[in-house]
Amino acid sequence: MNIKVVAGDIAQQDADAVVVNLFEGVTTPGGATGAVDGAMGGAISALIADGEVRGKRGELTLIHTLGTIAPRRVLVAGLGKAESFTLDGVRSVAAESARRLNGIGVKSAATIVHGAGIGGLDGKAAAQALAEGMVMGLYRFDKYKSNASDVSLTDVSVVEFDGSKVDALQQGVDEGRIIGEAVNLCRDMANEPANNMTPSDMAERALAVGQKYGVGLEVLERARMAELGMGALLGVAQGSEEPPKFIIMRYNGDADDEANNIGLLGKGITFDSGGLDIKNAAGMSTMKGDMAGGASVIAAMQAIAQLKPRINVTAIVPATENMPSGTAQRPGDVVRAMNGKTIEIDNTDAEGRLVLADAMAYARTIGLSRIVDVATLTGAMAVALGDQCIGAFGNDDAFTGQVVDAANAVGERAWPLPMYDDYKSQYSSDIADIKNTGGRGAGSITGALIIGEFNDGAPWVHLDIAGTARARGSKGATVKGATGVPVRTLVRLVQDLGGVGIKN
Ligand code: BES
Ligand code: MN
Ligand code: ZN
Repeated sequence: MNIKVVAGDIAQQDADAVVVNLFEGVTTPGGATGAVDGAMGGAISALIADGEVRGKRGELTLIHTLGTIAPRRVLVAGLGKAESFTLDGVRSVAAESARRLNGIGVKSAATIVHGAGIGGLDGKAAAQALAEGMVMGLYRFDKYKSNASDVSLTDVSVVEFDGSKVDALQQGVDEGRIIGEAVNLCRDMANEPANNMTPSDMAERALAVGQKYGVGLEVLERARMAELGMGALLGVAQGSEEPPKFIIMRYNGDADDEANNIGLLGKGITFDSGGLDIKNAAGMSTMKGDMAGGASVIAAMQAIAQLKPRINVTAIVPATENMPSGTAQRPGDVVRAMNGKTIEIDNTDAEGRLVLADAMAYARTIGLSRIVDVATLTGAMAVALGDQCIGAFGNDDAFTGQVVDAANAVGERAWPLPMYDDYKSQYSSDIADIKNTGGRGAGSITGALIIGEFNDGAPWVHLDIAGTARARGSKGATVKGATGVPVRTLVRLVQDLGGVGIKN
């Protein structure tokens, strides 16, 4: 999608359709909406007077302009109450408007930046949310549909009356497009069926990102993982015919200060059958998406490489299937992770923490000083927080706070859960250092604590996205299927830590 910011009058644009907006309770539209209303002989105010257009959040009214202005259609988007309108609202309204116009075959649209006027939002931030919303809202995964049609809406002009604001808005739009495209990359990977998103396929997607945007890529094969002592990861992988891949991507944003770095680790289970502790049909049905954490860190790298923050970022994805077979690991087996700790396999379905154990230990050996891991780790997470909020677990309150703040700033939302040492006894083993499960109580917390056993002191946050990685329906910028959470959080965090960066 091409999105450009232009200075001018929204009523004078040469586009198939124009998008204006209305806050709830406004009876005489001003600004851009007023200009379009005036040019159409009061068509919008007449609808308001009749009570048909009320400015309610989610309300979309399509008006045929019948030659009064050049564009053939005007879409009036309700924004709800001005006091409660936020950047999330901008993203949602932009997504829903784009879907509506695309649905009627509109190819080009002119829009204003919602909320930057009487909404009081920062113009650049609102422009970013607008672009994110349009790019995310028009996402679809239809490559396997024989009758798929192209997205028609490809050209958007963001119209700003005040020419002095154009540059800032264009920056916001460009950033929003980059981030929205990264979200969609994550969605594409996590929506892909497991037969076409094997560990090798994941490595290839990472390679494509690396080549296009100049991010270094290294892929460790099984033999190298064995040399490094990654027994926990290899134990999970041994039941599958698909070779595991240990994917490492590296963005150098601060060559002068090697210690200014962060590691982003993502669970890359391309299919989680449960292993010999096999899942039932309902439990297995969405398990092609068990690599969503891995996809999110690869996708975040795509955006980071374009936004160029001043910080070094390494993404690590331990990728493998978790399958039952004659070579699969058994309940009761003991494996040794790269840091030397032994783990008794209590349940082969608790595999995410096993592959992340080795990813974490590896991350520490290459000097990553702050670490965020992202994983569809526990069904218990969806029970605790549902599908609207990421669970955050950390060993450093300040760093956890930064990650949670980033999530809340971008509207993905995260909430910290406690990491009391007392829970550690739940995963003690009679014969090994630990076992890989901690029982029913506090299942998400013990999962996080087990990953922490391999971290060894670096500030670290674990994001459990088991509840948030997949959406049951489309709403606002969310499209049914893989959500792309927490790509935007990761990008924002890295931007917060790295400042404006080397581009600016
Ligand atoms: N990938 C699952 C967790 C999951 C469940 C993600 C549902 C998304 C939706 C994970 O590997 C798993 O199976 N976890 C087990 C852990 C248990 C065996 C300790 C679980 O949550 O039941
Ligand atoms: Mn599992
Ligand atoms: Zn899993």
